[in-house]
Amino acid sequence: MKRACVIGWPIEHSRSPLIHGYWLNKYGVSGEYTKVAVHLDEAAAFLSGLADNGFAGCNVTVPLKEIAYKAADRRLPSADAVGAANTVWLENGQVCVENTDTYGFMTHLAQSAPDWQKGSGPAVILGAGGAARAIVHGLQEAGVDHIVVFNRTAERAKALARDFGSSVEAREWDARVDAPAWARLIVNTTTIGMKGEGDLGLDFKSAAKSCVVADIVYVPLETGLLKTAREHGLTAVDGLGMLLHQAVPGFERWFGVRPEVTDDLRARIIADLVG
Ligand code: ATR
Repeated sequence: MKRACVIGWPIEHSRSPLIHGYWLNKYGVSGEYTKVAVHLDEAAAFLSGLADNGFAGCNVTVPLKEIAYKAADRRLPSADAVGAANTVWLENGQVCVENTDTYGFMTHLAQSAPDWQKGSGPAVILGAGGAARAIVHGLQEAGVDHIVVFNRTAERAKALARDFGSSVEAREWDARVDAPAWARLIVNTTTIGMKGEGDLGLDFKSAAKSCVVADIVYVPLETGLLKTAREHGLTAVDGLGMLLHQAVPGFERWFGVRPEVTDDLRARIIADLVG
């Protein structure tokens, strides 16, 4: 019986047990996936004790992603790019980490908007936290040569641009309003729009028809940003797909089966989110 878990503080809200539990059941794997509340002060000790406590690995959520990255014995480039890790596994007694947000976002983008690279103009990222870094990394890997980052706290956007090189440019938060007129892809990585709160203030009247708009917020599934984009005939990419796809690599590492993100799994999670 293999065991994995998700750690964070608080941890009650995590949907990861639902996703992994669905796959354990679907693939008939003899395994268990639980939630464990781990405080920041206990995180490094928890990770070094994974094997002793019978875990094959774990997912890591807020606020432990940076400490998990630092505490690891081995880090994949996906984690180096972000400076944070969300997936942990053991290999030859070593604690290994990666960041699967890049994989999750890029996989869902490719499936929901296969033509996303066909438009012209830069990609726009709203926000400059860990999720923004994971997505900038993915876009760079996909060959996007101009990425504009807007963030409320200008210094954080500038730091991101410095870390990712000359293809990334930081601009003033207030200038974001014009982005739909020239962007080929717009991604919201801020918490604006979560539970219907706040408005990004973008107007898609002058957007190119090929512009793709993505949100990483998934409560509600159709955020104000995505609704407005759809009303203007643009392709809208929801945040739930990233959540589901980022779970795939961890499940495969711990339980030995590469799971599929299906419509049925999506429907189960949506039912839980609205229930
Ligand atoms: P994550 O690691 O999940 O990306 P984070 O590091 O907390 O989360 O980043 C949250 C992002 O949402 C940041 O870019 C934050 O902007 P600041 O760097 O200025 O804090 C952005 N954000 C959150 N609330 C916001 C708001 N009301 N208006 C504008 N940006 C907001």
